[in-house]
Amino acid sequence: MHDMASVAMDYDGIVRVSDIQPPVSDTSEFIRAVVDGLSQPKRAIPCRFLYDAAGSAIFDRICELPEYYPTRTERWILETHATAIAKAISGEVRFIELGAGSGGKAEILLDAIEQVRAYVCIDISPVPLASAAASVRARYPDITVDAVCGNYLGKLDLPPRRGLRDICFFPGSTIGNFDRDDAQAFLREWSRRLGQDGMMLIGVDLKKDAGLLEDAYDDAQGVTAQFSLNLLHRANHELGADFDTSAFVHRARYVSEPGHVEISLVSLREQIVTVAGRRFGFEQGAAIHVENSHKYAIDEFTLLASKAGFDSVDVWTDQDALFSVHLLRVAR
Ligand code: AVJ
Repeated sequence: MHDMASVAMDYDGIVRVSDIQPPVSDTSEFIRAVVDGLSQPKRAIPCRFLYDAAGSAIFDRICELPEYYPTRTERWILETHATAIAKAISGEVRFIELGAGSGGKAEILLDAIEQVRAYVCIDISPVPLASAAASVRARYPDITVDAVCGNYLGKLDLPPRRGLRDICFFPGSTIGNFDRDDAQAFLREWSRRLGQDGMMLIGVDLKKDAGLLEDAYDDAQGVTAQFSLNLLHRANHELGADFDTSAFVHRARYVSEPGHVEISLVSLREQIVTVAGRRFGFEQGAAIHVENSHKYAIDEFTLLASKAGFDSVDVWTDQDALFSVHLLRVAR
């Protein structure tokens, strides 16, 4: 039933991490990404490599930073509007969470939406996946829990829906990591996968003052800088690269068209770095792009979703219009 890229499991109370195989060999993929990424004229390493164990731990600290408003604002929106969200959804549902460990955000909804009969968590990393599944299983004994270890951006087999309405929950403005075209393609893929009465509840960070955005991605304590630089530490540890991590600095700047924070590591001096036996020269000021975080006006996102086959059901935001949560329904 499931292809090699995804392994779905039913849990009978016990979760064994050792039973879940990661779908790809991380290290060979990482080598290729770094070598290819540094060989291009516009140097870039895909942002998914930021999230090894160390990177994920640093990201958890980012979420607590005073400058980083998205996490607490999205939580506030979900808490404040959970009842309204539940009301907008009819019938018995299967709740599909993209990415494990939303830090309790899924629970806000599972508490409020009484019609949830099944929960599926999808994540590429087996350990957080298993722990998310286990905690939902423990807290909601009446909900059927499945964990799918796989890439929710790619080909994926979900367990059968059994007549339930699928609601896909994609929090955290993770969609912001895509450029606009890829975000649309991603939504298009999920509108197909969710089928007729499927819905999507998605957190989307809003456009706002550039200074606020740049502070959110370059905090005073330097935690976000550590998060980016961890990529070079990781390359040193895992690939035997020789990045001088004190000779690169984190840079976050807002680009108003189409509207994204662009995050790079910038070389402080002329230097040569060796990765997997290959030498890469850096001029002073040369950048390695590591992440984009796209920001949308509410109407802009609604339009993008409609091009991807979704109607807008409702949108919630906070008083300062920092963040938005969109409820979408697959268009008929
Ligand atoms: C996890 C992609 C939503 O873009 O706000 C935060 C990642 N990077 N600070 C974001 C991130 C640096 C975050 N997302």
